[in-house]
Amino acid sequence: MCGIFAYLNYSVNRERRYILEVLFNGLRRLEYRGYDSAGISIDSSLSLDADTLSSTPLVFRQEGNIESLVKSVYEEVAETDLNLEESFFVHAGIAHTRWATHGEPAPRNSHPQTSGPGNEFLVVHNGVVTNYEVLKETLVRHGFTFESETDTEVIPKLAKFVFDKANEEGDQTVTFSQVVLEVMRHLEGAYALIFKSRHYPNELIACKRGSPLLLGVKELTEDFGVEASFHDAKFLSKDGKPKEFFLSSDANAVVEHTKQVLVIEDGEVVHLKDGCVSILKFDNSKGKHSGALSRPSSVQRALSILEMEVEQINKGSYEHYMQKEIHEQPESLTTTMRGRLIRGGSSKSKTVLLGGLKDHLKTIRRSRRIVFIGCGTSYNAALAARPILEELSGIPVTMEVASDLLDRQGPIYREDTAVFVSQSGETADTLHALEYALENGALCVGITNTVGSAIARNTHCGVHINAGCEIGVASTKAYTSQIVVMAMLALAIGDDTSSSLGRRESIIDGLFDLPNKVREVLKLDQEMKDLAKLLIAEQSLLVFGRGYNYATALEGALKVKEVALMHSEGIIAGEMKHGPLALVDENLPIVVIATRDACFSKQQSVIQQLHARKGRLIMMCSKGDSAAVCPGGSCRVIEVPQVEDCLQPVINVVPLQLLAYHLTVLRGYNVDQPRNLAKSVTTQ
Ligand code: F6R
Repeated sequence: MCGIFAYLNYSVNRERRYILEVLFNGLRRLEYRGYDSAGISIDSSLSLDADTLSSTPLVFRQEGNIESLVKSVYEEVAETDLNLEESFFVHAGIAHTRWATHGEPAPRNSHPQTSGPGNEFLVVHNGVVTNYEVLKETLVRHGFTFESETDTEVIPKLAKFVFDKANEEGDQTVTFSQVVLEVMRHLEGAYALIFKSRHYPNELIACKRGSPLLLGVKELTEDFGVEASFHDAKFLSKDGKPKEFFLSSDANAVVEHTKQVLVIEDGEVVHLKDGCVSILKFDNSKGKHSGALSRPSSVQRALSILEMEVEQINKGSYEHYMQKEIHEQPESLTTTMRGRLIRGGSSKSKTVLLGGLKDHLKTIRRSRRIVFIGCGTSYNAALAARPILEELSGIPVTMEVASDLLDRQGPIYREDTAVFVSQSGETADTLHALEYALENGALCVGITNTVGSAIARNTHCGVHINAGCEIGVASTKAYTSQIVVMAMLALAIGDDTSSSLGRRESIIDGLFDLPNKVREVLKLDQEMKDLAKLLIAEQSLLVFGRGYNYATALEGALKVKEVALMHSEGIIAGEMKHGPLALVDENLPIVVIATRDACFSKQQSVIQQLHARKGRLIMMCSKGDSAAVCPGGSCRVIEVPQVEDCLQPVINVVPLQLLAYHLTVLRGYNVDQPRNLAKSVTTQ
């Protein structure tokens, strides 16, 4: 949900073309976060006047995806006297890819947003400033004119206001970080921000509250063969080392440059100046109208090393990320389970080890209730795991869509364990629900795919699903890994009950074998492509499931609607006769999930009822069960390998993921960037 990126080279000679390409590539890596418009700011040229050393930053903004921006920048540059080969010994560039929240996709609403003519302050922003209307009114009263409908535009204008005021009051020494700290004092909502300013050339400021942001630091050892002229000498970094800095909404855009990173924390202000990084802590204790600008104390933090490889963020031999991520599920599931399943010689030693929970299992077992909280696919994964958690723990498990919990201010108690499920670990609705549950005193457990994410950091304990980087906007491999982690959670909680030992051991055996079974079900790829060809022109698709596979019906339908842009609805089969049956005719395609489990006979009677109404059925059944699910042999059948009932949703979702993928490609839509969507929804 918007991606922000910046590149600052220090004591390293880089041509303008190179700088542009670093910025564009950063945006390409972040494009899945938003792709309706984009923009960058670079310097025009450094004045040779050593005292001012400033130039008016140039701003390029374009509606559409990154490639439209790239094209328009090179076209615009070609029409000016800007030289792409011009070298910069130091240069600070910022960039943004947008998922519109306030204001339609259009250049004026794209970022960088500016303080006004002369681009004195420029800002790229991910998040939403909730009090922007009040701030805008105040700034308008002080003579500012606004050109966009964005919430962001108040930020650079506020920065100019603060800067001008300090100067009017005779404070010529006001620093860039002081200006930004003062701006932060007035902002409400969630944000990750990068500031660039004509008044502070070659410096960047990054700060955040709620939205993710990290800094990558690359020290260069090569000899860049640059004679430090009078001009250049000003830009030798304090420690004499040439460096490059990368600020980014996530690690994808940084890992190809460096693995040394600093995950910026809420309230921190990172100032890049003179080749150095200083971190200041925003202290809100002074209140909004504190008067004099603060001189905050600095924070010392060590860099950490990214555990990520560049290959993970490339498509490899696949055409799309979604396709790659569907097909890598045997491997992602293996990584999810690695080191967590223990199967020794004797049957007693079959167990599950979840390091992040071991100190909290007793408390969880004593909870009065377990509440699963998530959105979209993550919610569906929790729904798939709910029955096994109820069965093995004996604790009531309730489900909450994060936004709905907040809308209702639903009851959460001290005796509850609240489990937050989120691939990104940054989803605003889930994050706010977490704050709410923390306020209410519940034990909060995080299940995320993103180490260091807000949900991972702010929960009391948790489990990382370790599915690897998921770039396709439609979640696939994270879904199956989430289910597996929650099945392991159920096993760990139930580990103190001897009566379920046999059941737990069968599940553990099933987990060991699961990657192989997923490999087997992936062989249905061509079959699902053929099915997609049959369904290509349909308007609608229903998916019926029940029990463990009610979640599969919801998730399969979600995949089809979000990427193939085809209306699709997942329906709990027990509800069919209470309404949805009215839709059934010989035209509407209906997928019925009827793999073997305790609900199988009930599902057979649903099939009979659909068949009696001449429903156009596509049956998903366990291998060898075609005849049992296809009365009269008239329907299309998808046979899948049978596994333990609670793991069956992992298998059953795969053909539906493949169907959604092929339908999308055949219908000519963008698989990895579905219309109007973005990954990591960091606004409410
Ligand atoms: C659908 C999808 C979304 C996300 C939802 C929650 O394919 O990806 O429904 O599941 O936005 O995101 P996370 O899991 O990051 O909290």
